[in-house]
Amino acid sequence: MTSYVAAIDQGTTSTRCMIFDHSGRVVAVDQREHEQIFPKAGWVEHDAEEIWENTRAVAAGALAKGDLVAGDIVAVGITNQRETTLVWDRTTGKPVYNAIVWQDTRTDKIVSDLGALGPVSGADWLGSGQERYRAKVGLPLATYFSGPKIKWILDNVDGARARAEAGDLIFGNMDTWVLWNMTGGVDGGVHVTDPTNASRTMLMDLDTLAWDAEIAEEMTIPLSMLPEIRSSSETYGKVREKGALAGVPISGILGDQQAATFGQACLSPGEAKNTYGTGNFMLLNTGTEKVMSDNGLLTTVCYKIGSNDTVYALEGSIAVTGSLVQWLRDNLGLIGSAAEVEQHARTVEDNGGAYFVPAFSGLFAPYWRSDARGAIVGLTRFVNKGHISRAVLEATAFQSREVIDAMNADSGVPLKSLKVDGGMVVNELLMQFQADILGVPVIRPVVNETTALGAAYAAGLAVGFWKSEDDIRNNWAQDKQWDPSMDEARRESEYRNWKKAVTKTFDWVE
Ligand code: G3P
Repeated sequence: MTSYVAAIDQGTTSTRCMIFDHSGRVVAVDQREHEQIFPKAGWVEHDAEEIWENTRAVAAGALAKGDLVAGDIVAVGITNQRETTLVWDRTTGKPVYNAIVWQDTRTDKIVSDLGALGPVSGADWLGSGQERYRAKVGLPLATYFSGPKIKWILDNVDGARARAEAGDLIFGNMDTWVLWNMTGGVDGGVHVTDPTNASRTMLMDLDTLAWDAEIAEEMTIPLSMLPEIRSSSETYGKVREKGALAGVPISGILGDQQAATFGQACLSPGEAKNTYGTGNFMLLNTGTEKVMSDNGLLTTVCYKIGSNDTVYALEGSIAVTGSLVQWLRDNLGLIGSAAEVEQHARTVEDNGGAYFVPAFSGLFAPYWRSDARGAIVGLTRFVNKGHISRAVLEATAFQSREVIDAMNADSGVPLKSLKVDGGMVVNELLMQFQADILGVPVIRPVVNETTALGAAYAAGLAVGFWKSEDDIRNNWAQDKQWDPSMDEARRESEYRNWKKAVTKTFDWVE
């Protein structure tokens, strides 16, 4: 009998279930989008109960499409949009508030107030301002991360703080929410996360992989709300709810960007990938060494397989790339479908002088400016829909160049090529421009679904379906490579213009 591994990929815009065979090929997939809720400028929420319903539906859908039953699946892994924050009641299973999405900037005041706190005796590791917690958690203080979002919920939802202190409310990112529900919910659900997700909360010590009581106290978050941190690859429990996967062990959890790094077989120090999703996330495996960035990158956990040593990564996070194409479609109606952006971009030779800096959630790496807001600059009467479409695609490539420059500076070893994956890598014009603006080849693998694949690998390793990381390396295969063809002078002048455009987005929020 052939066996398979399933992965639940709970992403920013949709939830998917994918089923993989031993060679890492996709056997079946089902997907459902969920509503993006924008209650006011800068706020982004998801309905966690809708997401849980979608999770159950896509698990059933993928099995049906593959003509499979639970008995064919040896393990299930979970991967997820990271940082998105949910607080729910452990006795009723009901969220006290919508999930606050990673892109949401409502915590800007909380973040600046935390940065303004003074010294604490005995805590000589504390930095100042935005760097207050970096020495322990590897992250700058920013609206992106979960800790300040938990604090917002406790401060703003009626009665939440008292219920949390009484032990009734628990926190989780979407991995934990899905796992808790799959393993029985109010009826014994497992309240667990993994170090890759925990490393995005600002609450986990990167060395000990334990919650940090001092930071939790400064953020006024009761430690009792936080899930247990287990490794990224071990059996946490079995699917207990009576859905399609009933009885299957759940044995892998990786935040989606770390999962993509794993799925891309970036398993040795110096290997990196860039994922083109709603945002772009580039991760460089730094091995068991925790490298602190001097150039605006994050230090984060890459994965921890069972009792093996923790592997760390440097990360460049970009908030808005693919979601800019969606914005062009949904908010402006300039294109009918995401794919049309390439057709329009191909009607022109170049960007016509226009640059689009999509600082919709402020700017993430390498700037970390929550006061930034989006701008289109360089407009003249000449600029048309084709130029704007091109500027939209180029924004993704320019932002990735900034992150790679920061990575090269931090690591001291320039990247020789870039492995890519995610929804936007089907866009040939973007991939060629990316190679041009970086000056190094861009390489796409055969299995582009590296996020779900990485979670499947973590789960499959735990149950012995795959024997070692060598199986993962052997499964990776190249599909296509784009080589740079732009001359050096043009590359650098385009990039200078981009940098100038970025400066126009600063200081928009008091
Ligand atoms: O940090 C946010 C990231 O995990 C979201 O990824 O692919 O859901 O946009 P994605």
